[in-house]
Amino acid sequence: MASEWQCFFDESKKPEHYERTVTYMKEFVDKCMRQDRPIVLVSSGGTTVPLESRTVRFIDNFSVGTRGATSTEYLLQQGYAVIFLHRRGSLEPFKRHFTHTNLLDLLVTDGGTVHVKDEDSDRVRHLLERYVAVTEAGTLLSVAFTSLNEYLYLLMGAAQVLKTYRHQAMFYLAAAVSDFYIPANEMPEHKIQSDGVPLQISLQLVPKMLQPLVTEWSPDAYVVSFKLETDQDLLIPKARKALKRYSHQLVVANILETRKKYVVMVTQESEQIVKMDDEELSRGQEIEAKIVEEVVKRHRMFIEQRQAETVGF
Ligand code: PMT
Repeated sequence: MASEWQCFFDESKKPEHYERTVTYMKEFVDKCMRQDRPIVLVSSGGTTVPLESRTVRFIDNFSVGTRGATSTEYLLQQGYAVIFLHRRGSLEPFKRHFTHTNLLDLLVTDGGTVHVKDEDSDRVRHLLERYVAVTEAGTLLSVAFTSLNEYLYLLMGAAQVLKTYRHQAMFYLAAAVSDFYIPANEMPEHKIQSDGVPLQISLQLVPKMLQPLVTEWSPDAYVVSFKLETDQDLLIPKARKALKRYSHQLVVANILETRKKYVVMVTQESEQIVKMDDEELSRGQEIEAKIVEEVVKRHRMFIEQRQAETVGF
């Protein structure tokens, strides 16, 4: 009998150009494997849940992709190649630094050449150098999704491609993924009419894709999931429940309001608080630098352990 996750995919439409995107991901992974470079899939931003198949309205969530885009920059600095699976239009590595800036305000001209203003020059040069290094090395592959089923299809495709890279592959699942959806066969084709009648919608549960990820798609990878709650009392118990259910390596637990200054890294055996003090925040430092440093340390240890087991075996 088909499992819940298989039924979900059987009933859901594949994203446009799905096969082509999986081919790009495979070429990217093959190149990184030849270079013996560790690879991480970072998921980032929120998924939409369409209410109509010719979609006018959809349900969305708060995530703007700060965690994923910021972490990607630090992972690249640590020598990883990154498949950046992100919500179309959400924050992206490097570009994110200009989200609140009008590019034209950074520039001056003497009538001929255009320059970056002196006061912004160091900041822009530093960023440009990092961006050019990543572009030349070809270590960042951006893949965009909008809806829940696009996200889940692309996650599955990437995970199946990464399977061959075994423990050198990491998943860093920072996207805010909807737990509820309307199956395609229950969705109206056209725009829902109001006609003066209140709308009632019934949403079905989305199967948790961590389960096939860790058991079938990429069973030897290092998997980091994120857990978001608004009730502090639920945070650690829910993180522990996820670890117990999926037996993956790490849950990064965070509360909506404090997610930029406080997270807890939870494993089967331990809990480690990672936090920022006011001085660090006022200097513009980012908690993702600390999260990534710790995650990379743990992934390296995981690789060493797995390699030692293989040699011993
Ligand atoms: O983007 P920002 O504004 O910076 O915010 C960052 C963040 C708060 C979104 C991020 O830090 C975070 O906590 N992301 C996870 C939020 C979330 O969706 O939690 P969840 O409890 O719904 O899911 C837990 C895990 O299950 C997630 O890793 C998710 O990938 C996975 N999942 C979710 C739904 C689903 N159908 N299958 C899954 O496997």
